[in-house]
Amino acid sequence: MTEDPSERYPSKFRPWGEPVTQVPPHLYGRWKRDPLLRIANGFFSVTIPAFAHLMRPRNLAEPSTSRDLKVVAREIVAHDKDVVALTFVSADDTPLPRWTPGAHLDLLLPSGRMREYSLCGDPADSGSYRIAVRRIPDGGGGSVEVHETLHVGATVTVKGPRNGMPMAVPGHGSSAEHLRFVAGGIGITPILPMLIAAERLGLDWSMLYTGRSTDTIPFIEEVERFGDKIEIRTDDVHGIPTPDVLIGDAPGPVALYACGPVPMLEALRVGLIGRNDVELHYERFSAPPVVDGKPFTATLSESDITVDVAADETLLAAVLKRKPDAAYSCKQGFCGTCRVTVTDGLVDHRDQTLTPFERDQGQMLTCVSRAAGDHLTIDL
Ligand code: FES
Repeated sequence: MTEDPSERYPSKFRPWGEPVTQVPPHLYGRWKRDPLLRIANGFFSVTIPAFAHLMRPRNLAEPSTSRDLKVVAREIVAHDKDVVALTFVSADDTPLPRWTPGAHLDLLLPSGRMREYSLCGDPADSGSYRIAVRRIPDGGGGSVEVHETLHVGATVTVKGPRNGMPMAVPGHGSSAEHLRFVAGGIGITPILPMLIAAERLGLDWSMLYTGRSTDTIPFIEEVERFGDKIEIRTDDVHGIPTPDVLIGDAPGPVALYACGPVPMLEALRVGLIGRNDVELHYERFSAPPVVDGKPFTATLSESDITVDVAADETLLAAVLKRKPDAAYSCKQGFCGTCRVTVTDGLVDHRDQTLTPFERDQGQMLTCVSRAAGDHLTIDL
């Protein structure tokens, strides 16, 4: 949506005032026009429109620039051999955008699939990016494609980096005095750069790293260098960690950053009820559960298919059963990949991504949003 602020307000309410159109004469009559005001007039006539342009509401879902990266290293980083770390450099020697801990890349895979992977290298390394991908044979095919096609020398198009879980440094945007990190398995990927940053900044931090077994935990040698700040607990030896174990016993205020499977995040959420001294930041592996959903049907007009969407199912999940090539990535309502246009029916929008203008245009995100009534028709 683009809106010129000068059109939103009558001139007497314009907070930046009006450009001076008639330069008044000099106060003491020395010049026909006051030179100071002539300069001011020129300055503001340029800067005010520029300021107004910058203040225009932006489309937050606007896709970022894409670029080609080349794989220069490939390393197995879990003993079960199912997690591969890939290091990329720019394919055309253009500089890579800088990034901050918690950021991810969107990989546009050769099949047309788009998948997000957290950057797990050193944010201070301006020459390369690193991601890590666990192979999920019965998943949507993205991780298998990464494992089977992105060998050293291969190129891939990416968008980003973008950051959905930025890390606030205590004293600079966070009142926390202790940072607590909780990672489950491959959930270590967005956390690893945070550990590097926390260590580099000399912050007070601790971490719990969990997984099914030691063999399934990626980067185990890499995290062990942080010594006793990291506690590694595996389900096969220690059992499933309780909320108290996940949260730790550091006195508040604490900022807790977590990434892992849904049960781990749910345990954290339950454990933090009533804890006002802990701020929780988290990233899921998978779609959040549907809350207060009602069943409905959706007609995919371009495919001539009608699907039933159960009360506890997303529209995207129902679509994928009949149309497995439907585009998606995050399944959490923030990447915009699953966007469709609704041609009939009312939408219960449950994302934080689409602008009011885009919603007015009939757009919806199938991974989180639903029908407000019994039926929708979408252009898929
Ligand atoms: S898949 Fe990312 S917004 Fe729907």
